[in-house]
Formats: sequence, structure tokens, C-alpha cells
Amino acid sequence: MSKLVLFPSTAEVNNKGHLLIGGCDTVELAAEFGTPLYVFDELGIRRRCAEFKQEFSQRYTDSAVFYSAKAFINKALAQLFNEEGLGLDVVSAGEMSIVRSAGFPMDRVYFPGNNKSAEELKLALEWGVGRIVVDNFHELELLGELAREQSNKPDILLRLSPGVDPHTHRYIITGNLDSKFGVPMVHGEKALATALAMPQLKLRGLHFHIGSQIAEFEPYQQAIDIILGFAAEMKQKHGFEMEELSIGGGFAVQYTLDSPAPPVADYAEAMTSSLIKGCQRLGLAQPRLIIEPGRSVLGQSGVALYTVGVVKDIPGVRRYVSVDGGMGDNIRPALYGAEHEVVVVNKMRERETDKVTVAGKFCESGDIIIKDIVLPPLAAGDILAVADCGAYCLSLASNYNASLKPAVVMVKEGKARLIRRRETLDDLTRCDLV
Ligand SMILES: Cc1ncc(COP(=O)(O)O)c(C=O)c1O
Repeated sequence: MSKLVLFPSTAEVNNKGHLLIGGCDTVELAAEFGTPLYVFDELGIRRRCAEFKQEFSQRYTDSAVFYSAKAFINKALAQLFNEEGLGLDVVSAGEMSIVRSAGFPMDRVYFPGNNKSAEELKLALEWGVGRIVVDNFHELELLGELAREQSNKPDILLRLSPGVDPHTHRYIITGNLDSKFGVPMVHGEKALATALAMPQLKLRGLHFHIGSQIAEFEPYQQAIDIILGFAAEMKQKHGFEMEELSIGGGFAVQYTLDSPAPPVADYAEAMTSSLIKGCQRLGLAQPRLIIEPGRSVLGQSGVALYTVGVVKDIPGVRRYVSVDGGMGDNIRPALYGAEHEVVVVNKMRERETDKVTVAGKFCESGDIIIKDIVLPPLAAGDILAVADCGAYCLSLASNYNASLKPAVVMVKEGKARLIRRRETLDDLTRCDLV
């Protein structure tokens, strides 16, 4: 199988043996905008938004897709998601402010998060976010106080932690019993009754999110059953009507050739059929269904370009190829051993004969982008493209070693537009006071 299947859907190789994305020659993009450069394929993102919307709505009419901004957001992307008719899930005042500044309709913004500050909740109320997803008792009390001064009652969802194991990396599990996120099921009734007893809040429904990069359906189905069972019990005991249910995100992305991700249609089928059957079994009205994919919307449509610098041989041990980025812009390999595939964009037709380890330029031995990969022979000046860098790379980027965060371009039909400029040396001291 060609590695190209891991790249954006518009990826192709031209007659010079260069990688094209969105009709743009990536060698030319690197020359024009410099590297490290993040390249987003506009058509790929739009197709993915449409696919999520269609696969869910054709099986469950009253459904909505909320892109999870933590995977990566900026103003241009927020505008794109608005044009595609998606909602957004934000987890901080910062994300809220970015999407607001892009003119995103705030009633289509949901706000989860396990430790929202009073200031963040005040902003959410002032800016009229669609739902505040209440995570715990402390937040419920805090919001209850703040909402007393509100003329419009805020709509809330209650986040529960269903206690299922989604079989993914332990750093990206969120809905298990031992989790900092959400109300554990044993306290679910108390939290729900407390919310219902607050006339200043409108409890619209329930929320869960079990983790990220989940390639199985069973954990979702288990979680749906647990939450529906809870909703039925609460209906009987407290007259609670679950108008809305958010089942979070977590859909997997194919990062390597040997770890395929299920198609969106299969997730949609498994999730909606569990929900429909469960509601029928328990005599519940079907709630509005919200899904919050992040990684799976943007992951494959983003590519990181790096320039090769030093090539160092340690005889009998390893050949290190160092590039001009690394853990500052993509900490995933160092943080959770994430794997990515790499191609050499100016040597797409050359034979892959050399086993190398691609290292970043940051001062940590753990700053390895990919270990022991076979690539064409490399020299300084070659350009590498790392696949599946759209999600959780730039949003986790840092200025470690006082590095400059990369530029980001959006490509479409042979045209590239800068959607975030590269940071400058001046940006590094912009907040410093002497
Ligand atoms: C509440 C919530 N919704 C959605 C997501 C998005 O998950 P993913 O990017 O895996 O789809 C997350 C990520 O952790 C989350 O915490």
C-alpha cells in the first residue's frame, strides 16, 4: 500500500517526482513560506465535515456535528467550520475568544472542561455560548451563583463519566472510572437532582466523552447503554427529560499503514443504532444527538513540512536525520509514543533504501519524530512531509528552546493562502517586562 493513503485526499505526485497537496507543489510551498510549515488541505477538511454530517444525519435526523477546537483552531478554520454548518466545542476562554473573533455564532458553541474558572464561566454567559457542559459539583454551584444575575437562563448539559475502557493510550482515556473528567456515575443522580433544583439553569441533557483515537465501537455502545439507563431512571425518579445527548468525539485516524481506522459510516451505524434501540427499549424519546470529533476531522488533512539539516552516522548503530522542527510543533511522538509516516517530497519516485531515524532540533533526546524508517538516501536541503499532523500538533505546540511556532497555509486547487504567519523573534519577547 502506498504511504499516500495517509496523506490528504488531494495528495498526488507530479512529473518532477514532487508531492502535491491541494494542487500545490510542496517543494515550492517550502521555498515560498519556509519550514517548518503546516499545510492544510481545504477540500479534505470540507469533505470530512460533509461526511460526518451526512453519515450521522442520514441515520439519525436530529443530529449535529461539533468540531472539537482543541485539535487545532484558528480564525480561518473557525470560518470554514461555520461555512460547513458545524458547531464547535471549546474548552477555554482562549478557544472561545478565537472562534468569537472569527464571527462564529456563539449559540453553536459548546463549552466543556473539567476546571472552568469563574472568569471563563462569566465570559461564556456574556458571550451566549449554546451550552455549558457542567463537569462537576463545584462548577454547578459556581454557575448557579453566576446565573442568578442572568436574564436568560443558561442551557447546560451534565457531563458524566460512564466508566468504560475505550482501549486507547492511557493519556487519552477520559471516560473511565478513575478520570478527572465528568461526574462519576455513583454521583450522577445527586448532580442531576442538584441541577434540576436550580431554577436559574436549564438542564437540557447529558454529555460524555470516553477518550481519543478509539478504533472500536463497543466502548461507545457500552457508554450509550449506561447513559440511557441512567436517563431512564432519572426520568422515572425526577421527571428528567433528556432532550439532548452528546457522545463526544474520539474517532480514530489512520496514522500508519498497519493501523487502519474504521470509516465514519461504521461509527455512525454503531452509535445511532445503539441509541435508537436503547431509547426504544427504555421508552425514552430520542434526544438530539451531538458528536464532537476533533482529530478525525482535521488529522489527515494536515501535513508538516520540514527541511533536512544534519545527517549523522553512528556506524553499526543508527543514522540520524535532523530536521528544523520537532517536539516544539509536534509533541505527540515524545508525549505518547505516537507514530507518523514520512515521505521525502522532492524524492517521491526514488527508491526507499536507507534506514534512518528522523530527529527534531529540540534539546531533548526524546525529540524523535520517527524511529527506524526506510526512506530514499537523504541530504541537507531535502524536504520531509509528515502525514496526519492536522490534529493535536499545532494546538500542543510550545516555544521550547525559544523556537518560533510555524506558519500555516491552506491549500486548494493550486493556490496557497497563509492562515497563520510564522512567529518572529519579536513575538518571543512581546509579553516580557523589564
Ligand atoms: C469533551 C471532548 N469532546 C471531544 C473531544 C475530541 O476528541 P477527538 O479529537 O479524539 O475526536 C475531546 C478530546 O479530548 C473532548 O475532551
